Amino acid sequence: MLKACMLEEQDRVRYLKKSSIRRKLIWIIVITSGGALLLATTALAIYELGVFRSDIAEDLASAGDMLARSAQVALELNDPRAARQILNMVSSDKRISKASIYRADGSLLASFERNPHGSNEPAGSLRVISSLLGNALIKRIPVTARGKTIGEIYLEGDLTNLLIRIRSYLVIIGGVALISHLLVILASSRLQRVISEPIIKLANVASEVTNRKDYSLRASRMTDDEIGDLVLAFNQMLAEIQSRDEALRESEERYRTLVEHQQEGLGVVDLSECFVFANPAAHEIFGVPQGELVGKCLSEFLDENGFELVKAQTRLRSTVKRTTYDLEITRPDGERRVILITASPRFDKEGNFTGTFGVFRDITVWKHAEERLKRSLEEKEVLLREIHHRVKNNLQIISSLLYLQSRSIADGKAVEIFKESQNRIRSMALIHETLYRSDDLAHIDLSEYIHNLIKFLITSYNVSSGGITFKVDIADVSLSMDTAVPCGLIINELVSNSLKHAFNTGKGRLWVKLHRVDDNQFEIVVKDDGIGLPSELDIDTSPTLGLRLVKTLVKQIDGRLEATSCCGTEFRILFSDKAARRWVPCKL
Ligand SMILES: Nc1ncnc2c1ncn2[C@@H]1O[C@H](COP(=O)(O)OP(=O)(O)O)[C@@H](O)[C@H]1O
Ligand SMILES: [Mg+2]
Repeated sequence: MLKACMLEEQDRVRYLKKSSIRRKLIWIIVITSGGALLLATTALAIYELGVFRSDIAEDLASAGDMLARSAQVALELNDPRAARQILNMVSSDKRISKASIYRADGSLLASFERNPHGSNEPAGSLRVISSLLGNALIKRIPVTARGKTIGEIYLEGDLTNLLIRIRSYLVIIGGVALISHLLVILASSRLQRVISEPIIKLANVASEVTNRKDYSLRASRMTDDEIGDLVLAFNQMLAEIQSRDEALRESEERYRTLVEHQQEGLGVVDLSECFVFANPAAHEIFGVPQGELVGKCLSEFLDENGFELVKAQTRLRSTVKRTTYDLEITRPDGERRVILITASPRFDKEGNFTGTFGVFRDITVWKHAEERLKRSLEEKEVLLREIHHRVKNNLQIISSLLYLQSRSIADGKAVEIFKESQNRIRSMALIHETLYRSDDLAHIDLSEYIHNLIKFLITSYNVSSGGITFKVDIADVSLSMDTAVPCGLIINELVSNSLKHAFNTGKGRLWVKLHRVDDNQFEIVVKDDGIGLPSELDIDTSPTLGLRLVKTLVKQIDGRLEATSCCGTEFRILFSDKAARRWVPCKL
């Protein structure tokens, strides 16, 4: 039962929720005004009943008193006729429907009844009214004589008047209720417009804004009340959304223009490497008509290896921020293009990897140019190697010519001079030979070169295997040719001097060392434990070619020369390798 009531209540609430504001307002006005009217008429009816009750009570009391006085004699004489005549006195009173005179023992002496054939019991609505009136309808008055009760007067009020009155009340109330409800409905349907119309118009504007996405629409303010304030706030909100929408549209337009006019291809691929976005340049690069790249997958443009490369890069990208790599694609028309891809990962709000944003650049032309350059570089390297080879050969020829020339000279000193010149040429030829064999044509591996130079000098000066011990310690250093040639000549001069002048006995030790002092500073040390430099020799002023050549070459490589002569001779040259330095033939 309770559940059914609750369900009914819920249905009513649901119906009210679904109803329009207009209907709700009419309902509220009708219910409240109807309720007020009902209350007013009920109060009026209760008041009328009260008045009627007291009137009846008063009438019955005065009629009863009068009858009691008149009936005294009839009771004492026990005369029913006289009693009936007394009762006839009240028969004209329409408000009394029944009057009786009882003896003291309760037996009826005489009785009068206005409607003897009808039922004495009130029927239907009269019963309700009679119950409301209670004992006001019946009056019992004792008849006394000489202080003794000799009988009783019984009176009953007539309800017919009340019934007529109440009936006319009901008709009037019903009529008034009907007319007033009609008037209320009429008035409320007009008055409610003042409240509902601005709300309905506001709701219409709101739904139009939602449907058309047109934020320039405005609701008109019809009232100055809270609804008017609501309309004002709604319009302000629309104005704000409109300005934000325009700013957003402008920014979107700017980015769209930027993306569409970008020369680089821009695209977004999902986890399956299929395009979900591509700008016009990307369509051109992939050789696909505009608007047809979205939905196509990278696998359609790649061979198996290419697609494997893409997948490997994608795997890498889920952990690394950005990757750049070349990819060879085959366009739908069969043309092969090389593209440079700079790919950045895309993540959703939860941080899950969702795909790749890629910038594509067609580098086919560059690739071809690079290949041409590579080929040309290779050709030039071959050429340079050839040149080094030829220079070496030419220098060897000059050296051989000097040797042949020296054979016809009888003067030992002159022969010596020829031999030294020959060695200088050979030390330079060795540089070209080293370069010719080396992979790097711009730098000389000093270790290899100096070892070869010393081997050559040993042969040239016929150093016996048991006589002079060489200790060669050359760091793993590569120098530019501009530094390596002077270094080679310096070592040639100093080692030649040691071999020529230091060892009178033909025995001794000779150290040749090259080591790195710091990043770009090197030191050459040539030392022997021979007789030492002559005491009268001043290196700075010595006119002899060998030492002058050494000093000039040291100057040329911006180096510093130190010579000490104590238990042998030691030369130290500190220098740096300057790439920009150009080697020029010495001016002595
Ligand atoms: N390591 C050395 N030990 C002894 N004397 C040397 C040494 N190096 C040079 N000298 C001396 O210095 C002189 C000058 O050398 P240099 O200018 O090379 O001329 P040259 O070798 O033609 O004599 C040499 O004649 C020699 O007396
Ligand atoms: Mg010398």
